[in-house]
Amino acid sequence: MSGRKIDYLRISLTDRCNLRCRYCMPHDIDSVPMSEILTYEEIREITRVAAQEGIRHVRVTGGEPLVRKGCPDCVRMLKAIPGIETVMLTTNGIWLRKFLPDLLEAGLDGVNISLDTLQREKYREITGYDGLEEVLKAVEACVSAGIRTKINVAAAREINETEILDLARLSEKWPVDVRFIEMMPIGYGKEYHGLDNRRVLEMIKNRYPDLQEAAPAAGAGFGPAVYMQIPGFLGRTGLISPIHGKFCQSCNRLRLTSTGKLKYCLCYDDAEDLRSVIRSGETPEEKQERIRKIFRAAGQRKPAGHRFEEPDQISEKKRMNEIGG
Ligand code: GTP
Ligand code: 5AD
Ligand code: SF4
Repeated sequence: MSGRKIDYLRISLTDRCNLRCRYCMPHDIDSVPMSEILTYEEIREITRVAAQEGIRHVRVTGGEPLVRKGCPDCVRMLKAIPGIETVMLTTNGIWLRKFLPDLLEAGLDGVNISLDTLQREKYREITGYDGLEEVLKAVEACVSAGIRTKINVAAAREINETEILDLARLSEKWPVDVRFIEMMPIGYGKEYHGLDNRRVLEMIKNRYPDLQEAAPAAGAGFGPAVYMQIPGFLGRTGLISPIHGKFCQSCNRLRLTSTGKLKYCLCYDDAEDLRSVIRSGETPEEKQERIRKIFRAAGQRKPAGHRFEEPDQISEKKRMNEIGG
């Protein structure tokens, strides 16, 4: 695939997480030893070259990025890289209130918070932790601080089919975008009956027939979400539809896993091992050149699109917490 403008890099800081979402990381895992995880210095070196090759937006993910010590410092370090315009964070929100002041001070541009249900007991069932109250407080804190905030809802029959309208209504009282994500058959996601976003849209339209298409607002994000506005709501409704609204043609992103693999697409295990480059015995200039070439070739290397509809074509066997979403 050629001619893609790749300007967005998702960086996973860790595969560890303080929750156990059933569709992502349901059990305790043997975490990768820290020696195999890129150091912040190594992430900086890679991102510096990436920025020289056109990366403008960075999303910090996990597992849960806030469980890695020094996450706000990492945000500050990424913001300081010439060429990087925005740094955003995807988090489950559990530790967000605690870190928000440091993250804001570090220059964070936006937060995406995962929240799949508004029922306390259901939240505990899905995530293994009684944390709904804390996440809602974190959303409130973000809104008060004025930082761009989005809520990610992974939608599946087993999780939240009956709560779509309640979740959408979070953007009635708060200026946050609520985005419904079609479950992808990655890791334990395969075991769920993901909702078709065309049905989600229908449910919302039935209740709110005045729903309008929304122009992408400044700072809305750089991802595949399509946004709509319910008149009178403070925030917007978004749909991320990898299954029934395949957006691969406009995919602008690469993924750097916590162990330093540069991934081209969520669906396949094809990746470049940047850790072995950065830890090789070459001079800093030689390493930079090799990394530069990899980023330069990435647009060509990206596949035409995912093939989630053909299970035997999904070569990615890692869990979502190892990839970073
Ligand atoms: P912004 O819209 O810029 O805020 O970011 P984002 O939606 O790309 O990031 P976020 O981490 O909030 O991801 C939300 C959901 O979209 C997750 O389930 C991701 O796995 C999914 N997603 C993000 N990018 C892609 C992509 O390129 N392909 C697919 N299939 N899914 C993606
Ligand atoms: N399909 C779609 N979204 C997923 N997430 C985790 N696993 C999957 C999956 N298989 C979502 C989380 C989080 C975001 C980073 O990715 O709910 O909001
Ligand atoms: Fe942790 Fe996010 Fe996976 Fe839940 S979906 S276990 S919060 S990484």
